[in-house]
Amino acid sequence: MPRVRNWQAISNPVPALIIWLISALTFYILFQMALRNSTPSSSTGWSLSNVERRTKLYDELSRELDVKGAAFLKNGETSQSLSLSDLFTVKNGAVTPVLRAANPPVRANVLYMSPQYSLPVAEAVQKVFMPYFDKVIWFQNSTLYHFSMFHASHHITPVTASEVEIEAEANAVKAVAKDVCPLKISLDRVVLTSTGVLLGCWQVISGLDPAVLRDRLRSALPQAPAIQLYDSAIFHTSLARLLGHPTNFPKEQKISELQFLHELVNELNRKLRGFQATISELWYVEEYDLLALALNGRVKARKFQLSCSKT
Ligand SMILES: *[C@@H]1O[C@H](CO)[C@@H](O)[C@H](O)[C@H]1NC(C)=O
Repeated sequence: MPRVRNWQAISNPVPALIIWLISALTFYILFQMALRNSTPSSSTGWSLSNVERRTKLYDELSRELDVKGAAFLKNGETSQSLSLSDLFTVKNGAVTPVLRAANPPVRANVLYMSPQYSLPVAEAVQKVFMPYFDKVIWFQNSTLYHFSMFHASHHITPVTASEVEIEAEANAVKAVAKDVCPLKISLDRVVLTSTGVLLGCWQVISGLDPAVLRDRLRSALPQAPAIQLYDSAIFHTSLARLLGHPTNFPKEQKISELQFLHELVNELNRKLRGFQATISELWYVEEYDLLALALNGRVKARKFQLSCSKT
């Protein structure tokens, strides 16, 4: 089936590119902050555990909307919200992603959340946000909820690989998965970032820490970019992307738009905080479009069970 594209958006890829660069830069800054915070200091005996680093990171993300403001709402119709909307177009009354080919394809390793767990989460997200964001929200595909763990190649630092090298990478990841037990996890909180991304932020109840899994993947994939897109402690799934102002803002209530956003996030947290899931698949994914897993683009996924035998 031919894919219909928004040629206007494609002919002007610069704003979309800027958004990607800003996102990458944000995560790089968070990454650097975390590196500083986690540097073990034997003189003071002070160092943060991965759980503490994660909590601190989530605290910072929770404050981001107030500290930086809702960048996705600022400057009326013509700024970042418009740039962000370059990633999307409204077609036949539905928000539709504008896909851009990744060359070379991005090679991502993600932990996959099965629909048994993702569907109830997605349902809660839609129930809370759908009524107020008509055609200005993109919901993550509920059968593709995933935790981005480690990139063998990403769009900031592309690492080209032959078919043979890709097979070798996939086999190395498969070997990592074989020695990891399924993770029991719990939703710590939902946060809304200043760029309008609704994130589920998770903690591990039992199983390997995500930071340790990232270390193992790095060892297994020595050619991978030294700088990864995410803080090594973070353990998150994207739930939705807000693309503009609420369309159904209850003006009779004497609250600001920002307060209203906080209220929606709080409501979602009341429904979802503490939600538990078991993660039992590690995927090695070739993404042929930028953000393909997030935007229903073209992917080739190799799926590996976390198949350690529990002792
Ligand atoms: C969501 O992803 C599944 C694959 O897991 C795909 O079959 C389905 O078409 C996607 N949904 C949308 C709306 O693109």
